[in-house]
This record gives sequence, C-alpha cells and structure tokens, in this order.
Amino acid sequence: MHSFARHRHSTAGKASAKVTKGLILNGGWRYDLTGWFCDTFLFRGQWRALRLRTANVARIQPGEQVLDVGCGTGTLAIDVARRVGTAGHVAGIDPGTEQIARARSKAARHNLPIDFQIGVIEQLAFPDQTFDVVFSTLMMHHLPNSIKRQGLAEIARVLKPEGRLVIADFKRKQERQGRAARFHAGGSSMQDLAALVKDAGFAHLEMEEMRPTRFSAFPGTGFVRAYKS
Ligand SMILES: C[S@@+](CC[C@H](N)C(=O)[O-])C[C@H]1O[C@@H](n2cnc3c(N)ncnc32)[C@H](O)[C@@H]1O
Repeated sequence: MHSFARHRHSTAGKASAKVTKGLILNGGWRYDLTGWFCDTFLFRGQWRALRLRTANVARIQPGEQVLDVGCGTGTLAIDVARRVGTAGHVAGIDPGTEQIARARSKAARHNLPIDFQIGVIEQLAFPDQTFDVVFSTLMMHHLPNSIKRQGLAEIARVLKPEGRLVIADFKRKQERQGRAARFHAGGSSMQDLAALVKDAGFAHLEMEEMRPTRFSAFPGTGFVRAYKS
C-alpha cells in the first residue's frame, strides 16, 4: 500500500539489496498492521476477500509449483502454500528486505517451507520452466511500463508451458468513485495490462472485476488470468 511508500520510500532503496526502478515498499510488520487497519475500517474486509479470490482465479491444485512476484509480507503465498500441500512448492520474491524478513517469520510461525527471496521482477533467479502458476498482486502499478514488459518476459520464461499467470491490481484512480476515489493507492488500467500480457506471448486471457461494496473505500480490483502459449 502506498502509505508506506510515502513514509519509507526514501530509505527503502538503501535498505534493499536489489536495484529496481519499481517503487519498493519496506514496511514489514507495519505493512501488515496498516493493511489490517485499512481492511477492517476502510475496505470492510475486501482486501482479504481479494486475496482469496486471487488464489481461486488461479485454480491452484495440490502439488503445484507457485511463485508470487512482489510478494510483500507473504500473506498470499502462505494461503497458497496450504493449497498446494506438501507435494507442492511456493516461492515469493520482493526487493523490500523488511517485507521478506516479515514473510519469512510468518511462514516459520505457520511451519510452512516457503522460499522467500529478495529479488526483482526484472531478473527472476529461477531456471526456465519452473512454475505452474505465477502471481502478481497489487504490484504492477509500482512499475514503469518498460519494467512491466521486462518482468512479464521473465515470468513467461520461468513458467512451464501452459502455466498460468494471474495478475490482480487496484483500479486506476480515474475509474474509482465515492470513498474509493479518495484512497491514495495507485492502480492499473486492466486493458493496458492485458495488452502487455498479450505482447509477452500469453494466450487465452480472461478478465474479472471485483467492485467495492457499499460504503467501502476499497479501490476495486481487476484480475487478468492468462496462459503461457
Ligand atoms: C502494494 S505491495 C503488494 C504486496 C503483496 N503482493 C500484497 O498483495 O500485499 C507491492 C510490492 O511490490 C514490490 N515491488 C516493487 N518493485 C518491485 C520489483 N521491481 N520487483 C518485484 N517486486 C517489487 C514492493 O516492494 C511491494 O512489496
């Protein structure tokens, strides 16, 4: 969430072991605390619902290999690790060192062997054709277009043939209404994202939307699911 970017962005780059033109968040436990506060009092539980829906959109199966790019503090990866079970494997990367430290401590607390690494979408430290599913949630709006292209090419490289890419991101500010229009976090045009995903060689694109409920400041979310062709 961008609230951390405001407070932490100036120091975040220094704290990170990886160089990126993306907007790094480095709140760690503060990211989770602010997220909980926003979800409880502003979003009326829709952020949590968004994570559940993201995992559902991916149609995760037991035994699958999954990567969460820009995993933040690892909440989605932890949910997904339960779904793939002990026969599967989950990895998460983020350039924010505090994000990764928090993700590792949460996974350890839940006794889940998730491989959280400091890393950037521009250069994924995994061999070709490793994963059945790659996620990117609420992070595409952190990247300039050139890095989105580079990152999508990297995702295509590490996905197995027919592997699924699932992107979720907030709606652009211009497309929001009511309380959601005043919420500070940025977002993406789903049409623009879908075009980039196609350009990166993905096929069978499907898009979904999650709208804010009444009185919620939740910015609304778009999902893109696509298959490596
Ligand atoms: C709003 S957070 C979303 C985190 C998590 N996916 C979630 O849904 O809670 C965006 C994340 O993208 C990360 N990020 C920024 N630039 C990145 C890059 N080049 N590669 C990978 N992740 C990046 C940030 O550090 C931040 O943790």
